Amino acid sequence: MGVGKRVLLIIAGGIAAYKALDIIRRGRERGLDFRVILTKGGAEFVTPLSVASLAGSKAYTELFSLTDEAEMGHIRLVREADLVLVAPATADLIAKMAHGLADDLASTALLANDRPVLIAPSMNVVMWRQPAVQANVATLRARGVSVVGPGAGDLACGEVGDGRLAEPLDIVTAALKILSDGPLKGLKALVTSGPTFEAIDPVRFIGNRSSGKQGHAIAAALAAAGAETMLVTGPTSLPDPAGCKVIHIESANEMLAAVEGSLPVDIAVAAAAVSDWRPSREAQQKMKKREGGEPPRIDLTTNPDILATISAPGPKRPALVIGFAAETENVVEHATAKRQRKQCDWILANDVSSGTGTFGGADNKVHLISAAGSEEWPRLSKTELAEQLVARIAAQLKGAKS
Ligand code: C5P
Repeated sequence: MGVGKRVLLIIAGGIAAYKALDIIRRGRERGLDFRVILTKGGAEFVTPLSVASLAGSKAYTELFSLTDEAEMGHIRLVREADLVLVAPATADLIAKMAHGLADDLASTALLANDRPVLIAPSMNVVMWRQPAVQANVATLRARGVSVVGPGAGDLACGEVGDGRLAEPLDIVTAALKILSDGPLKGLKALVTSGPTFEAIDPVRFIGNRSSGKQGHAIAAALAAAGAETMLVTGPTSLPDPAGCKVIHIESANEMLAAVEGSLPVDIAVAAAAVSDWRPSREAQQKMKKREGGEPPRIDLTTNPDILATISAPGPKRPALVIGFAAETENVVEHATAKRQRKQCDWILANDVSSGTGTFGGADNKVHLISAAGSEEWPRLSKTELAEQLVARIAAQLKGAKS
């Protein structure tokens, strides 16, 4: 992903500066290499030692430090970066950037910079809404600076509103997107994930145990590979994956409507565990127990097959449609028949018989079934599986283009 790419991270003096440590950690996990500058204010919130320990290299603080200039001048710091990331970007540093001030190492490096710049603003809501701050941000945007966040929520100052630093993983994903020569750049992807809930009455539903982990991991991997990714998900306890547009639904019919509204796309991955049936009627009031009475009968209706709908030939059919098949026996044989029935291009078939721990677990073991036959993949974490699948998707689409 970010392997071999270097980020010059500038940590300015805001309370969210401590989150920059997590940015370094999560970025390094994804292969990014960091050089870090702390402003004077930044060094009040996080120490150069903790930054250096996480980044694996010295944290730079002084413009007029003989050692720093001898080891690594401010010009070299920016020249050797592929991206300059300012996180948190304070109102003060944003103003300096907009006005071209250079009175410390951070602002001087920024002025000497010719690399792409991403800023993650963080400040009090009233500060963020100030026309002066908004004008400075608009100036930077107009000059090609990318901005991630801020988000809304509780602020460290006790107030509530816009101004929260974007989540570290979202910042890393935004950085990866800019850095990405993304194999899927320019392509659109759609992923379904999680279970569906089919209402019986206002409080009861038919659902299943799908955790959404695999589908969410695939959506995150597609986004990290540069695809514009839409995730349509049923109820799960997972956070929205970074870098994706997410539509939350409950029922299969709602999932179908969201999917149809997201087409056309180039790649579709149906990882949702869509309920096969739904109650024919949803009671408008909570169904009552009758003392000594018969339990109610629930008539079921078959739900639409979302994967088959996406795969059906037509002008909006994606170039590559991938489904999942959860089987408990004769996995390859059943999944091969399913691929033909649903007219999708690939099926990832997994054995979910008891004891495999696939449902809700962190790992997955699949066979990839395509027109060319079946291929057994080793047991992988759901994240690794998602990354391998995305690599295969990229290879397939590249082969199809050339
Ligand atoms: O038919 P079965 O549920 O075994 O097929 C599994 C595959 O079909 C998965 O990719 C699942 O996301 C998709 N599916 C669907 N809509 C349904 C049922 C399954 O998209 N109603």
